[in-house]
Amino acid sequence: MTAVPGRDPGADPRDHHRADPGADPGAGPGADPGAERLLGRWWLATAADTDRLGRRLGAVLRAGDLLLLSGALGAGKTALTRGIGAGMRVRGTVASPTFVLARVHPPAEPGGVVLVHVDAYRLGGAAELDDLDLDTDLAQAAVVVEWGSGLAERLGPVYLHVDLDRRPDDTRLATVSAVGGDWPERVAAVVAAAQLTVADEPAGGTGAGVPEGDVLAGD
Ligand SMILES: Nc1ncnc2c1ncn2[C@@H]1O[C@H](COP(=O)(O)OP(=O)(O)O)[C@@H](O)[C@H]1O
Ligand SMILES: [Mg+2]
Repeated sequence: MTAVPGRDPGADPRDHHRADPGADPGAGPGADPGAERLLGRWWLATAADTDRLGRRLGAVLRAGDLLLLSGALGAGKTALTRGIGAGMRVRGTVASPTFVLARVHPPAEPGGVVLVHVDAYRLGGAAELDDLDLDTDLAQAAVVVEWGSGLAERLGPVYLHVDLDRRPDDTRLATVSAVGGDWPERVAAVVAAAQLTVADEPAGGTGAGVPEGDVLAGD
């Protein structure tokens, strides 16, 4: 793996947001299938909430999943990924991939899913994720990309986007949106299980899908 030259560290990847998450394009007939659909906003009052959201999310991840995490430095993207890794039961310490572009965390148990944790802020372009030549098959992994918005969604037509916004009172506002797949159902189950405080739900809501039983076994 080599460092990617020529990338302007001052450029904010969030400038490349495809869709304003505040403007829900909806998923009705005629909606752009490539547009992000707002699934809801939730308050993360403490780091424990961020961790809980991550763990519940990690518990429902499957091979082939793509997650994009956006938000300013210190917003909690790595903290969320740490929770995801715990929920997926992967090996190794999830840490900020500052000195490497990506880290591969194999599952602790057979049959588990590999976590690939990428720092897209240092990644020059979406194509380069393939060029990283990771010692793993991305189709067999769940890929979590920090600063991924505007960059890594080019990797696939289906993804979940979590934006973390650090507020003046140090709480975080999580804005969750997705393109394609069964993310609305999975997110509804995850946020119900994590018992997060709703900040805003789109008309029609996503809260109908309360999970049967516990999402995270052995919790
Ligand atoms: N909901 C929250 N409320 C308060 N602090 C939080 C919350 N979520 C995360 N943090 C804290 O924010 C800090 C920065 O998190 P980090 O994951 O390194 O940010 P990023 O990866 O976005 O740069 C960590 O110390 C973490 O514990
Ligand atoms: Mg980070």
